Amino acid sequence: MFDSLPDRVSIYEVSPRDGLQNEAAPVPLAGKLRLLDALVASGLRRIELTSFVSPRWVPQLADADELVAQYPPPPGVTLSALCPNARGFERARAVGLQEIAVFMSASETHNQKNTNKSIAQSLETFAEVVPPALAAGMRVRAYVSTVWGCPYEGAVAPERALEITQRLLELGCYQVSLGDTIGVGTPLQTRRLCQLFQAEVPTSALALHFHDTRGTALANALVGLELGFRDFDASVAGLGGCPYAPGAAGNLATEDLVYMLHGMGVATGVDLERLVEAGRVAEAVVGRRLPGKVHQAGVPTLRA
Ligand code: HMG
Ligand code: MG
Repeated sequence: MFDSLPDRVSIYEVSPRDGLQNEAAPVPLAGKLRLLDALVASGLRRIELTSFVSPRWVPQLADADELVAQYPPPPGVTLSALCPNARGFERARAVGLQEIAVFMSASETHNQKNTNKSIAQSLETFAEVVPPALAAGMRVRAYVSTVWGCPYEGAVAPERALEITQRLLELGCYQVSLGDTIGVGTPLQTRRLCQLFQAEVPTSALALHFHDTRGTALANALVGLELGFRDFDASVAGLGGCPYAPGAAGNLATEDLVYMLHGMGVATGVDLERLVEAGRVAEAVVGRRLPGKVHQAGVPTLRA
């Protein structure tokens, strides 16, 4: 193990979107701006800051237009937002966003419940969103959810998730993030899934998006790292949650990922101390204790 570690990996921070979308009490705009400032100050350079989805479906992010308008990207920072359809794309374009992320599930039932569309309808919708977005000069990322398992259907055929991924890349998405949406994945499964995808798709076109619902997110990320993945999604302090497991831990915590990577000599461009500060801001902004391990324990001062 650990014979082929990279010098550097890229972290895609999702706390303002995947984290805040799950908060019971919507966070005021000022709190979101504070969190964004703290994330940028830590050195994070790719941040998903909101969603241009229906405010009736996700009221927590109903202020998306105003948030993006009030937060021009700091130098060197790429901001992105989820877009489910042409309406979302138009909203993103109107506020000058440089990147959007389309999203769908590998399982029919989850896709239907999350977006009111079948998988085929989602692909048709994105065929009408991605080319115009590219023509407008945007970059488009994509998510495929429930790759490790679906809360309604259980096991998901990896070949189906792969086929959807290939379609999204053919449409022009620069990267597809594979999601363990409900945090059920374990390392051997992750190795098998990653290898199946890597046999057909360049690893550089893939990212890994783990939720830590059952404590396996970091172990799964380590498997991906070993296999050559260089793009990982994470959320500061583990902000987030799982709508199918109330009270459970959220996304892979960015501090935990950074702590592990730096300890292994893999650079991230992130200052861990400042990231821990950003986690404290996240905690203050949502007003509840957050689950990240490094967030809770702090950065160790070890004697030489
Ligand atoms: P729908 O109800 O079928 O939409 O929802 P519709 O097209 O029939 O329109 C109904 C109404 O919504 C209309 O308004 C539209 O204008 C409006 P009305 O005429 O009734 O007043 N509408 C919109 N408004 C604002 N922005 C829009 C928009 N689109 C329609 N973009 C829809 C379909 C997809 C919109 C809805 O299902 C939706 O918003 N779903 C979003 C769900 C969501 O955000 N889930 C969480 C993100 S996914 C995730 O967390 C997983 C991930 O983290 C990866 C992982 O963990 O695996 C990414
Ligand atoms: Mg997620």
